[in-house]
Order: sequence, then structure tokens, then C-alpha cells
Amino acid sequence: MSLMRKKSVKGMLSAAQTSQGLRKELSAFDLTMLGIGAIIGTGIFVLTGTGATVAGPGLVLSFLIGAMACGFAALCYAEFAALLPISGSTYTYAYATLGELIAWIIGWDLMLEYALASSAVSVGWSGYFQSLLAGFGIHLPDALTAAAGARPGVTTVFNLPAFCIAMIISALLAFGIKESKKVNNVVVVIKVAVVLVFIAIGIWHVKPANWEPALPFGMSGVFHGAAIVFFSFLGFDAVTCAAEEVKNPERDIPKGVIWSLAVCSLLYVIVSAIMTGIVPYMHFAGVDHPISLALKFAKLDWFAGFVDLGAILGMITVILVMTYGQTRILFAMSRDGLLPKVFSEVHPKYGTPYKATWLIGIIIALIAGFVPLNTLAELTNIGTLAAFSLIAAGVIILRRKEPNLPRKFHCPGVPYIPALAIVFCVFLMTQLAALTWLCFVVWLVLGLLVYFGYSRRRSLLHVSA
Ligand code: ALA
Repeated sequence: MSLMRKKSVKGMLSAAQTSQGLRKELSAFDLTMLGIGAIIGTGIFVLTGTGATVAGPGLVLSFLIGAMACGFAALCYAEFAALLPISGSTYTYAYATLGELIAWIIGWDLMLEYALASSAVSVGWSGYFQSLLAGFGIHLPDALTAAAGARPGVTTVFNLPAFCIAMIISALLAFGIKESKKVNNVVVVIKVAVVLVFIAIGIWHVKPANWEPALPFGMSGVFHGAAIVFFSFLGFDAVTCAAEEVKNPERDIPKGVIWSLAVCSLLYVIVSAIMTGIVPYMHFAGVDHPISLALKFAKLDWFAGFVDLGAILGMITVILVMTYGQTRILFAMSRDGLLPKVFSEVHPKYGTPYKATWLIGIIIALIAGFVPLNTLAELTNIGTLAAFSLIAAGVIILRRKEPNLPRKFHCPGVPYIPALAIVFCVFLMTQLAALTWLCFVVWLVLGLLVYFGYSRRRSLLHVSA
């Protein structure tokens, strides 16, 4: 029974209501901007190239499938976030609804999402940064440009720029630099402008012949592509991390989650159609800045430089939000007694969980240095898809068990929409490589060992029982 012990929803709600902590000043618009800031990054700027290689022009369908999986999951997220407007993301929701063991598994999965996504985006950033340096005639030694095996035919060892950017962001976070609303809004405007200008200019260079054959690798290519580009949508859940700083969380968080996802999905579908319309899909193989490639193909080199700059700035905010999310989940788990105290020790001056931030920052940076992007993206996706499935199940279960809770946002069509979220997410998981599954299973087993060896007896719920 102790595996099923839960925090009380009502208790958490009243604790959140009486807490005096953070200033509440974010609106639905701010949240949507926050979401877009966390969503648009390596997925659209880099992984579209990999996606096009496996799906061909069918990449558009891959993006649609990814958007549907995330859309269904986002509706489930929104119900939980409006019900429990407190920090800690899905881990916290699960603790109140599905019990400690499932919450632990979700928290453990979310580490794959946030930490590995930070590493993956750092690698994506590195590709664009190096392309920009090359514009000034600066080239790093080959060995330091990428992880081993990342660039076919080139002997690479370590991705130095990816390592450095991950360390710099962690240092900023340890010193308490939070992404400010203003900076985020500026970066979002730049990112969205880059994408919109790409659409407006690129559309005139599309050659419909490049869309033939539409599905060179059949639907299996489309599904595989969807499992990869799913990464592009991650980040909408980051909106919920700001729950305690929102003026009207019950109303605005669902809006922020759903709007940011909707805007990005629309942009992605159009961008993928235009990209594959400009460049024959096979040219994307091994390319780490596909959007600039499309522009160079269309002889718009001047604009390619602008895209490089926008991508570099834009990806920094994604790394910041993801690394921040990671430290806060560790913080929440540690505060609940499930992880060692060191993860929730706060610096007396900077007010940040500095030890956890440095520790996780070094791990994120080393992974970014040594592991290729595609491997990182697949691992991020499998962890996130698993967490999304569990959350969707949580919505169904909680509706049955606690039908009368004050839900300010109702996920429509329960149990069908959450069931669709589960079907889409599990299906996308099946499309990922065997090695990804192996790593995922090893990660889960490790998580269970930690839980049963440490967390279960140290849990505050156990100690206070
Ligand atoms: N969706 C985020 C990105 O693509 C993680 O960079």
C-alpha cells in the first residue's frame, strides 16, 4: 500500500493558496510567450533535417501526428495544471493522484526529458554557432566539433561549444539569473520573425516536383519521422512550471499551454512543407542546419545568416528553460524526501538550489559533449512520451476517484481524449530505435533500484506516517 501513498489534493491546494511566496504577475499572453520560448528550438532548426531524411516530404504528416499526440497530452496537462496550480510539473500532479511510485517514475522520466533535452539543444546550438563562426572564417579543430561518430567520415571526439554553452547556462542559473519576461518576449519575437520570414520568402522558391514522391519511405517513414520531430513540441509543459506566478492560473495556464502549442504546430507544419518543397529531401542527410540549407539552396544566403543568428539566440532560451525545469523537479523530489537533501539546499545569497544546479549542469554539459544529437533526441522523446502517457492515465483515474474536485478546466471528451493521448504516445514510443528502448529500460530499472533502495523509506510521507 505504501507504493500508492499520495499527497492530499485538498491539502496541496490549501497550502498553495496560503503561500505568500512568489509574485503573481503573469497573464495568459505571457504564458503563451513563455511556452513558445521553450518550444521553438533544436526541433525545428535542426531535427527537421533528420525527419526529412526518414520521412521525405511526408515530414508534414510526421509533424501533424506529433502535434496531435502533444495536443491530446496538453489537454490532460491543462486539466491538472488548472486543478493544482503549483510548481513541480507532472511529478507533483502524479504524487497527488496516482501515488508515490508512479510519481517517482514520472519524475525519473522527466529527468530524461529536461536534462537530455538541455543536452540535445546545446548540441543543436553548437551546430549553428559553428556555422556562424565559419562565416567569419573561424573553424574549430575537427575533433572538437562534435561527439564521436556524429559526423560520418570525420574523426570527432567532443562537442566543445555544446559543452561550453551548457556550462554557461548552468552557471547563470546557479547565480539566480531567471529568464526575465522581457528578455524572453524579445527572443520569442525574433524566433517567430525568423520562422515567418522563412515562410514568406521560402514559399516563392518551392518546386512542387520536390514533393514527389510524397512518401518515399511509406507510412513507416512518416511514423519514424513523427517519433523524432516530437522533440520539436516539447516545452509547452514548461508553462506549468510558472504556475505559482500566474495571476489567474485556473484560467490562464490551460490557455498558455494550448495556445503556445497551437501556434508552434501551425508554424512547424508550414515550415516543413516549404523546406521539403525547396530542397529534395535526400539533401538533408547529415545536415545540422537544414533551414539555412534550404535558404542557401534558394540562393538566399544573406537570409541564411539571419536565421543562424535567430536560431542561436532562440536556442539559448530553450536550454535555459529546460535546465531550470530540471533543477526544479529535482528540488521538488528532494523536498519530498525522495532524493537526497543536497538537491533542495538553497544558496543563502542567490536563493537558488545551487549545488543541484552545478551538479546537473556538469552532467548535462558532459552528455552534450559526448553524445550525438539524434541519440539524445530519441532518449528525450521516449522519457517524455512515457510521462505523458502516465499523466493522461492520471486524468481518467482522478475523474473516477475524485469526481467532485474543483476543476477549473475540464479536458474535453474524457476518457476518449486521454485515451487517444495514451495511444498516440505509446505508438510513437514503439517507433523509436531498439537501442533507445534498451537505454530507457536500463534507466527505469535504475530508477526503481533508487526508489526501493533509498527513496521509499526516506519519503516524508513515510517518515510522517
Ligand atoms: N522543443 C524544444 C526544441 O525543439 C525542446 O528545442
